[in-house]
Amino acid sequence: MHCSHPGWVLMFLCLLLLILAPGHEHSGVPSKAVILLDPPWSAAFKGETVTLTCMNFHSPAQGDTTWYHGKDLLKVTSRNIRMEESGYYQCKTQRSSFSDPVLVEFSSDQLILQAPHPVFEGDTISLKCRGKEEKKTSDKIYYKNGKKLKNSYNTDSVTLKSVSRDNSEYHCTASIEFLSIFSRTITSKPLKIQVQELFLPPVLTATPSQPTEGGPVTLTCETQLPPQKSNVQLQFCFFRDGQILGSGCSSSLELQIPTMWRKDSGSYWCMAEAMAYRISKNSSRSQIHVQRIPVSEVILETKPPGGQLIEGENLVLICSVAKGTGTITFSWHKEGTRNLGRKTQHSLLAELQIPTVKMHDAGRYYCAADNNYGPIISKWIRVTVRSPVSHPVLTLKAPRAQAVVGDMVELHCKALRGSPPILYRFYHEDVIMGNSSAPSGGGVSFNFSLTVDHSGNYSCDANNGLGSQHSHRVSLKVIVPVSHPVLTLRPPAAQTKVGDVVELHCEALGGSPPIMYQFYHEDITLGNSLAPSGGGASFKLFLPTELVGNYSCDADNGLGAQHSEVMAFNITGTPRNRTTLVTAGITVGLLSFLGFAIAALLLYHFWTQRKSGGLSAAGTPSANDCQEPSLSRSCITNPQESSHSETLALMELQPVYNVNPEESHVVYSQIRNMRHTKENSANSARMHQKDKEPVVIYSELKKVYVNDSSRGTDHEDATGNYENVP
Ligand SMILES: *[C@@H]1O[C@H](CO)[C@@H](O)[C@H](O)[C@H]1NC(C)=O
Ligand SMILES: *[C@@H]1O[C@H](CO)[C@@H](O)[C@H](O)[C@H]1NC(C)=O
Ligand SMILES: *[C@@H]1O[C@H](CO)[C@@H](O)[C@H](O)[C@H]1NC(C)=O
Ligand SMILES: *[C@@H]1O[C@H](CO)[C@@H](O)[C@H](O)[C@H]1NC(C)=O
Ligand SMILES: *[C@@H]1O[C@H](CO)[C@@H](O)[C@H](O)[C@H]1NC(C)=O
Ligand SMILES: *[C@@H]1O[C@H](CO)[C@@H](O)[C@H](O)[C@H]1NC(C)=O
Repeated sequence: MHCSHPGWVLMFLCLLLLILAPGHEHSGVPSKAVILLDPPWSAAFKGETVTLTCMNFHSPAQGDTTWYHGKDLLKVTSRNIRMEESGYYQCKTQRSSFSDPVLVEFSSDQLILQAPHPVFEGDTISLKCRGKEEKKTSDKIYYKNGKKLKNSYNTDSVTLKSVSRDNSEYHCTASIEFLSIFSRTITSKPLKIQVQELFLPPVLTATPSQPTEGGPVTLTCETQLPPQKSNVQLQFCFFRDGQILGSGCSSSLELQIPTMWRKDSGSYWCMAEAMAYRISKNSSRSQIHVQRIPVSEVILETKPPGGQLIEGENLVLICSVAKGTGTITFSWHKEGTRNLGRKTQHSLLAELQIPTVKMHDAGRYYCAADNNYGPIISKWIRVTVRSPVSHPVLTLKAPRAQAVVGDMVELHCKALRGSPPILYRFYHEDVIMGNSSAPSGGGVSFNFSLTVDHSGNYSCDANNGLGSQHSHRVSLKVIVPVSHPVLTLRPPAAQTKVGDVVELHCEALGGSPPIMYQFYHEDITLGNSLAPSGGGASFKLFLPTELVGNYSCDADNGLGAQHSEVMAFNITGTPRNRTTLVTAGITVGLLSFLGFAIAALLLYHFWTQRKSGGLSAAGTPSANDCQEPSLSRSCITNPQESSHSETLALMELQPVYNVNPEESHVVYSQIRNMRHTKENSANSARMHQKDKEPVVIYSELKKVYVNDSSRGTDHEDATGNYENVP
């Protein structure tokens, strides 16, 4: 409101409004001018003059001053005017608004009670009782609301402490002397002291006026002291619903509340207090309603970002809201399970940790946030948990117990644990053979057809990107079946004569060692020989008379025997060295004679059963290889061992059979100790069925082999191989 219009009606209206509207002061509005009186009393006797001074405390450079006396504009522009007329005075400078009207009274009474001007509440003032003829005035007594004031008897003035705007009426009485002898008591007019407010009740403002939760608010308690009292110390206190805020009252007219919550809503007011004057005034109450913003834009994020974890890592689920005030309740949920947890806090985000994730923690998650307007749900996010592969297990599947060239084998590699996809690689002797991926886990197979080169160690590794794991080694020995052996006579038949020592040599060019060779005359097993590291083997024969008949051999390395072609030999002629042969065998023959007699019986018995395939261990001396009663000396040697076997014993003419009833595991040394030859008749000979003397083939037992894959007579011949010892 701006009361600068000089019109009568408007001016009264303005005065009225100024009184009714406390807190009219606003910054930017020109300050009010103030009228000072000299002498400082608002009442005087007629005939006296009072000097009025128009003051603008805020703007000393004033320029022209405008004065009103009542409704009349005075034609004076100076700051000071001397007045003698009663009435309301008002002034205004260029930069100020009109002053409050000041009533100055010029009284024609004999006694006046003077109060100073201006008077503010809380002031200590003096009231002065004055007679027109002061010298004839005595016995002054002061009254307030009709009651005599204490200590106010016969004093020129009385002091009132801390006056208030209580509309009290004061008056004084005094004795006035007249005619020098008489006196009479007269009473002044009642006086209402114009006590001005020291300051208007403060105005509380909140910025912002409608604060939001979590936000700050600034409370300001504003009032204004009159220019004359600008040095009065004020302090300010702020209240909400009867409770003092902050750390109590202070000289600051501002109170900052950094964060407002919903519970901080309520009725606020402030108090301004002039301590020295014991005057305090409260503002009117203002309702502050703290606004709550509903949560919005709820987002669930993970740490590590993207939700891809390796088993054992920690998962942090971060639920955040873009907006939302107050205490927010966050909750976390996983698809298909109960709630994972909830937190209520004053923040825009909250975290939930899932320590050391397991595979089953993978899945879809969401979170929700709620600040009492109903939960808002985030989008789903997917969390994947991958586990590293375990050591894979390599298994090798072959169609039979032994791995044979040409077989299809299957390598199977499987890691029992580990997230798919898993890439498997197969190694043969640390060289990659191939790879295969298991897109959804499990194992994979790698099939291949065996070749000779496939012997060795196999392994595999598994990798799903989280580290590679290697299997143990599986070793495989690929066996090559023997090829058809070739039987040769050494030296060749053309260079051989009766009486020579010849060798039947059997050799299979292909086939994994060890190879067992068996030598046959017709279908009689002469003996067998092992080639532990491959190659061929020989069977030595001493040729006392002749070598006539069909010979053959077979080779076997456990995958089935292969037979050589049948070689027909026809070597006849005169022995080269007969005498030496004869001398050698006699002792052996004699010592063996008894055994032969027994053996002959047994052999015959067994021979008769032979076709039915029942018994083993014995046979009759063969006649087919020798046309004449003759000695045949045989030995089985490997090519490598041939030198060892050079020491040959000579056989006597008389055929001697020594049947060995034992199993094939005959110990060679026993034969020597006996100083006679043990012979395995079944292996080496059978009775010649014609008129010819049986041929005896003596052989020294070289080794014992289990020979399970020879021709049909094998089981009978398996008792061993014998070689006579000198
Ligand atoms: C101002 O408010 C305070 C606190 O409520 C109270 O104690 C005091 O009496 C009030 N003062 C006035 C003048 O109303
Ligand atoms: C897997 O084998 C294929 C061919 O069979 C090859 O191209 C690829 O590079 C191999 N991958 C690995 C990882 O060895
Ligand atoms: C390998 O052979 C097995 C049968 O022996 C078969 O079940 C498997 O599917 C084969 N795997 C591949 C990769 O050919
Ligand atoms: C196969 O592995 C074994 C040890 O596991 C090793 O002694 C052998 O020499 C390996 N064979 C080959 C052919 O590398
Ligand atoms: C040798 O074998 C052939 C044919 O296989 C046969 O004709 C011949 O009679 C046999 N010889 C002897 C002595 O058995
Ligand atoms: C062996 O050769 C002789 C003559 O060299 C011959 O008379 C005899 O019939 C032959 N024997 C066989 C079984 O062929």
